[in-house]
Amino acid sequence: MCGIVGYVGNKNAQDFLISGLKRLEYRGYDSAGIVTLDVKGEPTLLRAKGKIANLEEKLAANKRDDTIGIGHTRWATHGEPSEENAHPHRAGEIFLVHNGIIENYKELKEHLTEHDFKSQTDTEVLAALINSFYKDGKYSLINAVVQALKLVKGTYGIAVVSCKKPDEIVVARSGSPLVIGIGHDETMIASDASALLGHTKQAIYLNDGEVALVTSNSVEVKTLNAEPVSAKVEEIETNLAAIQKGGYEHFLLKEIMEQPESLKETLRGRVNLEEGTVRLGGPGIPEAELRQIKHLVIVGCGTAYHAGLLASYYIEQFTPEITVETVIASEYRYRNAYIPENSVALIVSQSGETADTLACLREIKKQGVKTIGIVNAIGSTIAREVDGGTYVHVGPEISVASTKAFTSQVIAMVMFGLTIAQAKGVKPAILKPYVKEIAKLPEAIHDTLENAKGEVEEIAKKYVDYEHAIYLGRDTAYPTAMEGALKLKEISYVDANAYAFGELKHGPLALIDDRFFEIALVPKGELYEKAASNVQEVLARNGHMIVVTNVEQFDLPVERVIRISDEIEHFAPLLMNLISQLFAYYTTVAKGYNVDQPRNLAKSVTVE
Ligand code: G6P
Repeated sequence: MCGIVGYVGNKNAQDFLISGLKRLEYRGYDSAGIVTLDVKGEPTLLRAKGKIANLEEKLAANKRDDTIGIGHTRWATHGEPSEENAHPHRAGEIFLVHNGIIENYKELKEHLTEHDFKSQTDTEVLAALINSFYKDGKYSLINAVVQALKLVKGTYGIAVVSCKKPDEIVVARSGSPLVIGIGHDETMIASDASALLGHTKQAIYLNDGEVALVTSNSVEVKTLNAEPVSAKVEEIETNLAAIQKGGYEHFLLKEIMEQPESLKETLRGRVNLEEGTVRLGGPGIPEAELRQIKHLVIVGCGTAYHAGLLASYYIEQFTPEITVETVIASEYRYRNAYIPENSVALIVSQSGETADTLACLREIKKQGVKTIGIVNAIGSTIAREVDGGTYVHVGPEISVASTKAFTSQVIAMVMFGLTIAQAKGVKPAILKPYVKEIAKLPEAIHDTLENAKGEVEEIAKKYVDYEHAIYLGRDTAYPTAMEGALKLKEISYVDANAYAFGELKHGPLALIDDRFFEIALVPKGELYEKAASNVQEVLARNGHMIVVTNVEQFDLPVERVIRISDEIEHFAPLLMNLISQLFAYYTTVAKGYNVDQPRNLAKSVTVE
């Protein structure tokens, strides 16, 4: 989603802003802009619809040696993607970039009659509002920002500069992240620490309700109520290599292929193979309390939701007297659902910033329920607001479609389930097989990816012209099928949906014709025969079926069978999901679409 960068120091601000915006491209955007000020405060505003390359074209004719400026990539919410709607927005002498949504912008706009609005954005309303306090000189820039923000309802991360003060940037946040990078005689700001890498490792993460006055060698943080905050300078943990393609053509393929390593990071220090136990330090729930847990609510959006669904099947398999409910955050936040006593909520989010997931976390906390984060981005808002948590540690995920995070989220939640089961005294004989398989998974993932890559590429090319796909699965393979369908639709734009095998006869079977192909995930186990009969039902209707299975003697006359190793039993769906990831990737490459930045989507959805 939208990205913010800013620079004040002694180097070329335009260069920093453009390279910073490029680092944030992965979040998804549809227009971009920068403004810089010269020593006298003369502004150079450049904005362009589309990719940052379009902005660079404009920059070529407008190079400046200014050393202060702010920039933005916009993902349209209010008003179409256009140059006029792109940020920075100007009002009087100030320029503003903004992530988030000003909910009461219409109401505020009615009172801002002096400003000549040029865009349809809520952001320009905020710019005009700040300017209404600033223009007469009664308030300093930071105090004008504070006055304006006190009237705002909604979410924001903002950066503001003024032509009258070409040596300071004011930033503030409420619900949308902002990081301040501390350099030598230079200070940088960004909505995501990856834009700061290579420039500094020292950063201040602003909290909600805080505002800061930033110059090249100082940062003053205070609350909107003017209380000074002594901000903590923290080390940025990510490194530059982690956000580069490392020889791969696309981030997505890099992240798919990284899974053996990224899962090892999730497991590091948490699995005791000899004892067959797991140990998670982060949740910090005393053993006696773990024993009492009767109910888990798992909250997430998109891929994180699917990870929660899959984990719920496992947790219920080995944990007695427990129910697990996995919910879509955007729905749950308004459901007014009662959470029974002895519940714990798992808040699942790769970015740790998803607006709906964050809203659920806050709602759930109001009920006094313990919240545990299953988060990737270190120091993100969700990670900071939960009562305890388990980082999945997969490193930055850049491609919009989530892959390595999914695998590790599932396993992190399974480990949390195992922790409860251990505390409840479940026999090691029941839990050990799961733990053993978890330890074996990185290698099995490596082998599956290496063995399947070529074959999946060839099959993807063959099915590239189909417009519709149906993913099918039962039990743990059902949420896995849902995730497979999501991957395919989000990047290749094939209309893909998933159904539980048992639901076929209740509707989806009517769809089967030559415009559709089906991908069935068929693991061996108790329900194999049932899934095999479901496959027959599709074949009897002339379906075009691809089966992914670990059953060696799978001999039904489907169009293609992709065999995976049968070494892994419980977690075979996670291996099958690798096939779905590769299939989506190669289909998209064959279609020639933008793999890492699919149209209309964003990596981190920070608005409702
Ligand atoms: C967006 C991303 C998805 C992701 C979802 C939830 O839609 O494109 O890949 O699964 O948000 O994101 P989170 O950061 O909360 O896991």
